[in-house]
Amino acid sequence: MEDGPLPVPTMLHEDIEADVCVIGAGIAGLSTAYELTRRGLQVVVLEDGLLAAGETERTTAHLSNALDDRYFQIERLHGEHRAQLAAESHTAAIDCIESNVWREKIDCDFERLDGFLFTGPEHSTDYLEREREAAHRAGLAGVEMVACAPLGSFDTGPALKFSRQGQFHPLKYLRALIAAIARNGGRIFTHTHVDEIHDGTPCEVHTATGRTVRADAVVMATNVPVNDRVTIHTKQAPYRTYVVAAPVPLNGMAHALFWDTADPYHYVRLQRCQSHDLLIVGGEDHKTGQAEDPEKRWEALTQWARRRFTMGAIVHRWSGQVIEPIDYLAFIGRNPGDKHVYIATGDSGQGMTHGTIAGILLSDLITGRDNPWKELYDPSRKTVRAAGEFARENLNVAAQYRDYATGGDIKSADDLMPGQGAVIRHGLRKVAAYKSEDGSVCECSAVCPHLGCIVHWNDAEKTWDCPCHGSRFDRFGSVLNGPAISDLKALDARETQVPDLATKD
Ligand code: FES
Repeated sequence: MEDGPLPVPTMLHEDIEADVCVIGAGIAGLSTAYELTRRGLQVVVLEDGLLAAGETERTTAHLSNALDDRYFQIERLHGEHRAQLAAESHTAAIDCIESNVWREKIDCDFERLDGFLFTGPEHSTDYLEREREAAHRAGLAGVEMVACAPLGSFDTGPALKFSRQGQFHPLKYLRALIAAIARNGGRIFTHTHVDEIHDGTPCEVHTATGRTVRADAVVMATNVPVNDRVTIHTKQAPYRTYVVAAPVPLNGMAHALFWDTADPYHYVRLQRCQSHDLLIVGGEDHKTGQAEDPEKRWEALTQWARRRFTMGAIVHRWSGQVIEPIDYLAFIGRNPGDKHVYIATGDSGQGMTHGTIAGILLSDLITGRDNPWKELYDPSRKTVRAAGEFARENLNVAAQYRDYATGGDIKSADDLMPGQGAVIRHGLRKVAAYKSEDGSVCECSAVCPHLGCIVHWNDAEKTWDCPCHGSRFDRFGSVLNGPAISDLKALDARETQVPDLATKD
């Protein structure tokens, strides 16, 4: 969702001290920095790239307490009380955004609206009834069954109505938070890559340019934490999701949020424009790096929408990455094994509310306030009932190492079209090759520097994506998303050799 560039602070050029160092300038990092500066703490924000330029700018910004993993599933894994806390926290997150909008007088298209959940082909009304009952037990007493979602001429059949949901323009909202952080004395630095984080008194954060930030606490809000190599990444999995947008007649259908129960599910909202509404439809998710057909995904979304709505030609399309925790709840709190380092990860497709929850919860933890959601989101929690999900995701990761034994996508870089990338086998090595529009070819190791899986070409985003834990690299191999913290290696580096697979499981 675009609305002009966000302000660009400068790179960190000196060693500095602060109460809290926040790493990552998406919704979670900026919400935390904003809340901490409101409480009078000195905060430094370090961002590897540009502000809110990661997954936050790719969201469709549904603000919802209708959790897409379903309340009856959360109740199954976590129990009735914790399902209540989950509902309470997402409701509080929408309220918090609304309060911030009022306090800071933010013009970000925030509006309250209803949300409607209707069934996909796999489910009947019984499914909705089960969710309605679980939502009531979770404290959402207003959730009700209606005959149909108000989606114009599209007959959805019975639907569950969730009142007082919300939507907004995330970049307009974050622009105002950035200004408020600066007004409150916070300092924000972009293009500042963090190499190392050391827990301690104080904590030390070292940047790639040799600078050090010393702080009483560090918050890792980088979508996936880059300070933890293994533990947290075995408890969540990266997925890609696709979005298309097309004009529809002004006020031709209710402004509301809509979701179906298909697997993968579809999500729909409208954006007001001057002469029309913009219909935004998302879905067609798959595990990152495990499908190479973005055009088909966008086409499937377009056809799904065309069968249901009278709409014009597609005017925008994009994709984003969602991090799915195995037990459906984000990991927000003290990093396992650390005393003063905190993480926020596992957005579970509800990054705007989970990011805002992080702002509230981490600020409470750091300033010593009690918070009832602490155990619910504790990154060290063990959810015994999610053992099946844990095994399934980690078997999937283990299976990705089979890529070492397979051939390349193509035989040689000569077979590449301009603007295209592919993995090529050079003897024992797997090489990530990209051909630029001018015909020059860039080759680097296809081995992900995190834990050694083979990256895959993402033709939609022109990136290299790792199918194991979701690290992403630009077309030339520079790291974009963790957990990897370094680029794909040059071809003469030792890491390009086939690793000892016995050490990988
Ligand atoms: Fe873990 Fe690539 S992200 S191996």
